[in-house]
Amino acid sequence: MSDGIKLPLPMKKGFGATDRVDDWWKGPTAMAAYLGIMIVYATWRGFMEADFWIFEEFGRSAGNQTMAIESEGSHVLSPLFSPLVIPGQGTFGGPIPEALWWMSPAMFILIFPAGFRGTCYYYRKAYYRAFLQQPTGCAISKPWNEYSGETGLLLVQNLHRYFLYAALAYLPILSYDVWLSVNFHDPVSHAHSYGVSVGSLVLAVNVIALAGYTFGCHAFRHLVGGGSNLWTSGSRPILRYRMWKISTWFNEHHKDWALYSLFIVMSCDFYIYACTMGWWTEIVLWGGL
Ligand code: FES
Repeated sequence: MSDGIKLPLPMKKGFGATDRVDDWWKGPTAMAAYLGIMIVYATWRGFMEADFWIFEEFGRSAGNQTMAIESEGSHVLSPLFSPLVIPGQGTFGGPIPEALWWMSPAMFILIFPAGFRGTCYYYRKAYYRAFLQQPTGCAISKPWNEYSGETGLLLVQNLHRYFLYAALAYLPILSYDVWLSVNFHDPVSHAHSYGVSVGSLVLAVNVIALAGYTFGCHAFRHLVGGGSNLWTSGSRPILRYRMWKISTWFNEHHKDWALYSLFIVMSCDFYIYACTMGWWTEIVLWGGL
């Protein structure tokens, strides 16, 4: 094997200097705007239901209820607040120490979806470029050190495979929320019936989008079939092969699932928020009370 001769690439030097003639900056700029809007919106909604400082004027603190639509006996819970952990109350919130009761329900649960997305292989590429300029882009120069890989603190990105388990656990929880949304109860007569509202459909689309994103995860694909050397004999290897094929199908469009599912989660929450504020009215399309 030849040692070869290592020569520096003939690149221009200076921030943004490049020989590229395409609009290379458009992608990272659009991504920075998109992710920035999503992060600001999720943060605002998380704090809205908190119980301190100016947030006492809004949401849960002020007695308003912006986490779920309680319309005609159905319960449509925003995915940003599911599973619902109200500090100091109920099954999940009961054990929470009083010192943390100022926190909003979203703050307890968003750590897992945020960790899953923050360590996702696709998102890493996107925000390294969009926010950190590591790198600015292929064959684009910049004045400080070049990208040196995921070392040091960035080793925390290896937690992605563990966040995957949390993300998988969310799918049945969010599916259960869809089920709750199609069950209508009359609080007075205790009558029960089924129905479908716009809110139920919005929740269902959200679960489908999140499932597509999760099943196409690189770590999930490895988990179901990547570590296997035998796919052809026995029911278990064949099952793993089939699951790997399905995961591969989702994985081929992982970027799209990642970006669209994020938008759908936020839109889903905004729909519920708008209904609870009275800007829109939740409509029962079929059945109901
Ligand atoms: S690689 Fe994107 S979710 Fe796992």
